[in-house]
Order: sequence, then structure tokens, then C-alpha cells
Amino acid sequence: MSIDLAYDDKGSGPPIVLLHGFPFNRSIWDEQVAVLTDRYRVITPDLRGMGETPLPADCASEMTDMARDVAALLDQLEIRRVVIGGLSMGGYVAFAFYRLFPLRTRGLILADTRPQADTEEGRAIRLQQVERVKKGGMAGISEVLLEKLFSAKTVQHRPELVSRIREMILSTSPEGAAAALIGMAARMDHSYLLPQVLCPALIVVGSEDKIVSVSDAELMHREIRGSHLTVIEDAGHVSNLESPDEFNTALLEFLRTLNA
Ligand code: MLT
Repeated sequence: MSIDLAYDDKGSGPPIVLLHGFPFNRSIWDEQVAVLTDRYRVITPDLRGMGETPLPADCASEMTDMARDVAALLDQLEIRRVVIGGLSMGGYVAFAFYRLFPLRTRGLILADTRPQADTEEGRAIRLQQVERVKKGGMAGISEVLLEKLFSAKTVQHRPELVSRIREMILSTSPEGAAAALIGMAARMDHSYLLPQVLCPALIVVGSEDKIVSVSDAELMHREIRGSHLTVIEDAGHVSNLESPDEFNTALLEFLRTLNA
């Protein structure tokens, strides 16, 4: 069952969908929306259970469910084909979208994400985090998450960004976050899909990403034929927010190659 998503739909031109990571909301794309909307129609949903999109009781948050929600939103907006991009968990959802709807995908933007499923150890950590969220709300995991999100340079020079992300994490619904953690733990391995990606793809990663490694990005670049890779120096896991100028340059150049 797909869920109605809260979303922003700004600008006009070829449509681009940007999907946020965990446990964030659509506002992580504000710096990209600001530069893209001169030429593009940018749709930024809050994925199920996050931001302003509620999670109905007993509802799962698997990546495939989230991808189907996005497809249902595009149907509602009467948009057939899009460039779809995601940061981290948003990238897991973008992979699921491509698997389900390859003909609707005009291009892929894979930012600070990876195709693999969780390892056994990774799954066990997610399930511990679910327990912590259930007991202590988002405060139970916020500091652990924040430690991994930024480069040393960001921590030193951008305290306002660290505070903004802390607020965003604390404002996320614990039920939505728990469901997304379970969904990420259950996600399938999309590595097999990489050589089958036929649309243009942009891969972006922060050189200091502690959650996704530069070697994950290089693997996707090797396996997705004709893909572009941008490594942003001194950025961590939220490279679009830590280095918006470099991220936007890569994004705009990629979109230009699509003649979009
Ligand atoms: C995210 O930013 O979406 C998460 O770090 C993804 C993950 O935990 O695998």
C-alpha cells in the first residue's frame, strides 16, 4: 500500500526527484533546490514516517515501499519519467525505484550511498538502535548518529550545520525512524543491478564519509557503465550540505550532460 507523501514541488522544467537520508527530511535539499529551480522542476518528498509524512500504524518502511510511494506521487503529478537522486538511505530507495521502474528513470544521482545490503553486524546495530529509539526517542541515537555524519572540517567550522542536523534528527518521529531502521536492515543487495543500469548516473561521495566509503563509490562508478564520479574533498556523509557549492556544480554538470 502506498502512502500519500508530504512534498515540495518547485521550479519548472525537466523533473528531478531528490530523496533524503535517514533520519532526515526534505529540507536537506534546500541548498540544491535553491540553485536547480531556475531550470528544473524539483520534487522533494518526505519519505514515509519522516518529516511531515506520517507512518500509519503497523506499516512497514521497506525501501521498496518507499520507492512505490514516490512512484504513486509521480502518478498523482502526472509525471512519467524523472531524474531520481538520493542521499544515503535516499539512494537505497533510488536503487529500489530503478529496479521497479527502469523505464521511468531518466538518470540516477547516488550521493553518499551504496548498493550493498547491511552486513550481519550492521543489522544487529540497527536492531539495537530500534530498541534505543523505542526507549529513549530520537535522543537515544542522535549523538551516535551525529558523530558519524560530518568531516573534521565541518565539525570545526560549521557548528550551525551540526545544530541544524541535530534539530532535524530530534524532530523525526521515533516510530518512523524505528520502521526505517528495520526497513534498511531488511533491504536487498542491489549490487547485481549495477551493470544493468542503462541510464546516466552521477555518483557523489564526501572524501571523509564515515558511513559510506569512497571505495563503495568507486565500485559503483566501475560497475555502472558511463557513470560520473565526484569525490568532494573535506566533506563527510552529508556532502550536499557540507559542501553545497561543489555538490551543486557536480549536479548541474551532470544534468547538462542529459540535455535536461
Ligand atoms: C543515511 O544517512 O540515510 C543513513 O546513514 C543510511 C544508513 O544508516 O545506512
